Amino acid sequence: MPKRVIRLSLVNVLLLCASLAPVAVRAGSSNSLLDISADGRWLAAANRDNGTVSIVDTQTNKVVHETAVGHKPEGVTFLGDTARLAVSVYGDDKVVIVDAAEGKVTGSIDVFDEPYGVVSTRDGKTVYVTLEFPGQVAEIDVDRMKITRTLDVGPFVRGLALVPDEQRLLVTEYLTGAVVTVERGSGKVLERLVGASSDNIARQIVAHPTRPKAYVPHIRSRVNVNRGEGSVVPFVTVVDTNVHEGKRRAPLPMDSFIGTFVVANPWETAISPDGSILCAVFAGTDDMYVCAVLDDDYRELSFRKGIQLGHNPRAAKFSPDGLSLYVYNTLDFQVVAYSVPSFKKAATIDVCQNPLKPEVLRGKVLFYTALEPMVGRRWISCSSCHPDGDADGRTWQNPEGLRNTTALYGMGWTHPLHWSADRDESQDFEHTIRSQLMQGRGLVRNRNIPDALGEPLKGMSSDLDALASYSNSHHTPISPFAKSGLSDAAKRGKELFFAASVGCAECHSGPYFSNSSTEKPYKLHDVGTGNDDPSEKMGPKYDTPSLLSVYRTAPYLHHGKAATLMDVINQNTGDKHGKTSQLSPEQKQDLVEFMKALPFEDPEPAARAAGLVKIE
Ligand code: HEC
Ligand code: HEC
Repeated sequence: MPKRVIRLSLVNVLLLCASLAPVAVRAGSSNSLLDISADGRWLAAANRDNGTVSIVDTQTNKVVHETAVGHKPEGVTFLGDTARLAVSVYGDDKVVIVDAAEGKVTGSIDVFDEPYGVVSTRDGKTVYVTLEFPGQVAEIDVDRMKITRTLDVGPFVRGLALVPDEQRLLVTEYLTGAVVTVERGSGKVLERLVGASSDNIARQIVAHPTRPKAYVPHIRSRVNVNRGEGSVVPFVTVVDTNVHEGKRRAPLPMDSFIGTFVVANPWETAISPDGSILCAVFAGTDDMYVCAVLDDDYRELSFRKGIQLGHNPRAAKFSPDGLSLYVYNTLDFQVVAYSVPSFKKAATIDVCQNPLKPEVLRGKVLFYTALEPMVGRRWISCSSCHPDGDADGRTWQNPEGLRNTTALYGMGWTHPLHWSADRDESQDFEHTIRSQLMQGRGLVRNRNIPDALGEPLKGMSSDLDALASYSNSHHTPISPFAKSGLSDAAKRGKELFFAASVGCAECHSGPYFSNSSTEKPYKLHDVGTGNDDPSEKMGPKYDTPSLLSVYRTAPYLHHGKAATLMDVINQNTGDKHGKTSQLSPEQKQDLVEFMKALPFEDPEPAARAAGLVKIE
């Protein structure tokens, strides 16, 4: 076993260096909503709901600047030893540079598309950013504010870490939990390390400062389990970062980490600069595990402490001296500082104001929590399957049949709800809360509640109305395929889509590309998709889904059996789903290009002009 001996001694040497050196080991860089400058002076927090970055002076624990950066900032990273930082602005497709001392934006660069994780090299000259769509890493030269390379990595990439020697980047795929290793020099993908097929929602990765390991918080979506217990399972997966054959992923289930205490929705992990402590925050159960990092290649982590946090904690970061840990309770709009190693609360910092209407904020808190009255046994929350209103890319075996998770964009305009239109208001999700899946007490006091299509539940509980308001509040992002207008292929596809001889717009009509309407009787259609599944209890007629944002919501159809938009067309038998048998392969491709470009404009003004009313 010579290999192992060499590796261990290397670790020992590094540890020895660490203990001799005046400053702690310089860790690599990893994506987070929080970062702290190398001198420990400034803390930066990306405020996703406000579109700002707050700069906290860590000597006074006061916010000194709150700087507007754009919609949905998802990551911050200080540039080397400077007081400047890069911010990934997910909603506006740009990376912004902020001077923390001045609180000013000093530069901005457009990226294509949806920048999420952002990290900087130690010299502060180069920034890397994951582009969730179309699945790339962009390399930015900060001095010249230029994109020097764009590396193709994989679909829906979010998490990003630079290993300590800065030779490789580690990237996580959001909807598979796969970890992709990219060699910095060549820009090549060296390997893609895949976990279980149920691995899901991996939005962050941190690299250990000395061990060849990285840590990925994620869930498993176990689509065949329709009971709360074990349907969504929390994990931190430890990944071997050396490139070699053999077993490389150690998935550590967080629900059985200390007895059977269940936590939900691991969001970020943080590692102390000396590599001895790992913290994982759980955004569903509002708590955090403090773990000792073991150098055993087997148990990997050992539980030390559980800490109760505030609402929806999404980020944690150690200070460079390792003496403080900062945690961001995003729905309290507060960062809490803990002293290390006691983990006593040292300060509570209000980082920004709540920008949401009180009702929407209340609804958001309920949507993200895995605690009562929403959830009985702590495993799951609405956000486990609809994180930030997105779909989880999964098809669940529900009691009524196979059901692909829908994104919640624009749903205030497209009631009734569900593939089978079996719900007419968002308040009907009280039935989901009380179901086997969530086993919550529910938000309505009455023991018995009306059927989903019966008397309205609206008005029965202010909390339930708040949950509905939040659910109805999601906007539809403009398609990246339509940023510079429709391509020629998409224009040809548009002609076909609206042609009577093809007939798509008979059902996919109006600004939301759906004829769904709350007028009764509901218009349900048999498009030949619901006949061959013995578990189906409600088909074969379905509500016409909106086609906005279909570029990012694969797989398709209620049963999720169409992996691509082309598959939807190719699975059309007997021209029951529009008339497509006469189309050439090129024409079908044109149709696909058009659908990928939806929406090419904000649908809300057109919807208002057409007299439609949004359900708030
Ligand atoms: C286990 C995963 C899971 C959880 C947890 C979950 N959902 Fe869903 N959600 C789904 C699936 C799958 C569908 C599609 C089901 C259907 O259409 O029949 C869906 C559909 C919806 C829709 C319909 C959207 C539309 O436009 O038709 C809404 C609204 C919704 N969910 C809200 C919620 C809320 C609120 C909660 C928490 C109370 C929740 N979901 C919890 C998986 C989940
Ligand atoms: C008769 C009404 C009708 C017509 C005409 C129609 N659709 Fe549909 N479409 C539906 C219904 C209903 C569904 C949902 C079926 C299911 O889930 O099994 C659907 C689903 C889809 C989906 C999947 C969306 C998703 O989110 O999974 C796509 C894509 C789609 N249609 C495209 C088209 C195209 C392209 C045409 C024209 C060639 C077309 N449709 C014609 C009613 C229609």
